[in-house]
Amino acid sequence: MTITFVGHGYVGIVTACVFADLGNTVYVIGRTPEKIKKLESGDPIIFEPGLQEVLKRNLLAKRIIFTTDYNVAIPSSEIIFLAVGTPPKENGEADLTSIFSVAKEISKHLGKHYSVISCKSTVPVGTNRKIKDIIEKNKPKNALFDVASCPEFLREGTAVNDTFFPDRVVVGSDSKRAIQMLLKLHKPLPGERIIVRLESAEIIKYASNSILSTKISFANLVSFLCEKTGADVEEVLDGVGLDKRIGRSFLFPGIGYGGSCFPKDVLALIKTGESLGIDMKLLIAVNDINQRARDNFIEKIISKTPSKNIGIWGLSFKPNTDDIRFAPSIYIIEKLLAHGYKIKAYDPQAMEHTKKELNHGIIFVRSAFDAVKDTDALIILTEWNEFKQINLHAIKDLMKTPVIIDGRNIYDPTTIKEIGFTYYAVGRQ
Ligand SMILES: NC(=O)c1ccc[n+]([C@@H]2O[C@H](COP(=O)([O-])OP(=O)(O)OC[C@H]3O[C@@H](n4cnc5c(N)ncnc54)[C@H](O)[C@@H]3O)[C@@H](O)[C@H]2O)c1
Repeated sequence: MTITFVGHGYVGIVTACVFADLGNTVYVIGRTPEKIKKLESGDPIIFEPGLQEVLKRNLLAKRIIFTTDYNVAIPSSEIIFLAVGTPPKENGEADLTSIFSVAKEISKHLGKHYSVISCKSTVPVGTNRKIKDIIEKNKPKNALFDVASCPEFLREGTAVNDTFFPDRVVVGSDSKRAIQMLLKLHKPLPGERIIVRLESAEIIKYASNSILSTKISFANLVSFLCEKTGADVEEVLDGVGLDKRIGRSFLFPGIGYGGSCFPKDVLALIKTGESLGIDMKLLIAVNDINQRARDNFIEKIISKTPSKNIGIWGLSFKPNTDDIRFAPSIYIIEKLLAHGYKIKAYDPQAMEHTKKELNHGIIFVRSAFDAVKDTDALIILTEWNEFKQINLHAIKDLMKTPVIIDGRNIYDPTTIKEIGFTYYAVGRQ
């Protein structure tokens, strides 16, 4: 099939590459000629494991074409995906400016044949009907189209694999024809097919991210209880998670969720519910606990560090990504800098982005070892694999005072204390 993606961020570029790899002709529309040049040269711009290889393979096969020109891509496309950002506004609502302006632009270039316009971006319930109205108003008279919601569930860090092996493919539409086209496109991919109403598809995405966020906040709430009582949160959650009805996944105590999806999607669902007169207390609490987890960790750092001379490991909001949007690290580091901390920081992938965000008071170093040299405490903010089995004896020898404050519970407290560290984790002694 011939398809188009508008937007080449984490969702756009990954899904475009995967569908090209399946043999489709895929256009990707961007706004900036410099970025288009980079993509054409095989640089995916973002860091995502395995992505560059798929991109290069499909560039070579001429199955993926990058452009800034809607007229190059839209008229021949059977399916057009919107994969642009829907960032939070100041009040927490999703900002749909890009969605609506892209919908208008697409509509002007629609060809004479039938096409499906499908939103991969996460948008509040009702948005796809607004997209339909915009297209109806602006399209050429003889253009035939339907809209469908096809929300994306990939996770940064494992996005390529997630897209090749989805748990489910959700398609929401009023139109049987649009549903058939999307099912045809997804045919080579495994996973259940969930064919639903437009509104259901929109809510499935927000409900999924909200329940995952709820599990994380619940784990943090339990960690607060454990810290006050001498229980160990990891032991408690192992005990809880072995119940098949509950499961252990996403019961992650620590410094809370971040990234470009969970925080914004929880807030946006709160706003949607409130606009409909629904009491959204549950998700308000999820958001509050997430904030409390970060603030508790900052208090812990302030009370447990022997001096203000510290090293930090991990800046990205989670491992295997360079994404720092709404990362707990940014909030925590800003607070520590305001308290006069001197910080050396290391992250395997996210330092370039972080330098743009935090441009003074922090020294970025090239290795985990450099980050701890002559410091009085090491703070762990992201659970990258390279920290899990690092030579902790060597780390201890480099530090002035062997203190670790671990926001991700990556070490066994007994083992690390035996090495000679003073170790503080979250919700465990
Ligand atoms: N990142 C994830 O893990 C993930 C997972 C599932 C769903 N989503 C959702 O998918 C959407 C995109 O997320 P993302 O992480 O890829 O965002 P992103 O910020 O990485 O990418 C957004 C892309 O849209 C482009 N864009 C914005 N406005 C545009 C316009 N007017 N014209 C053309 N291009 C425009 C940007 O240049 C960028 O390439 C969001 O709604 C997000 O909630 C994200």
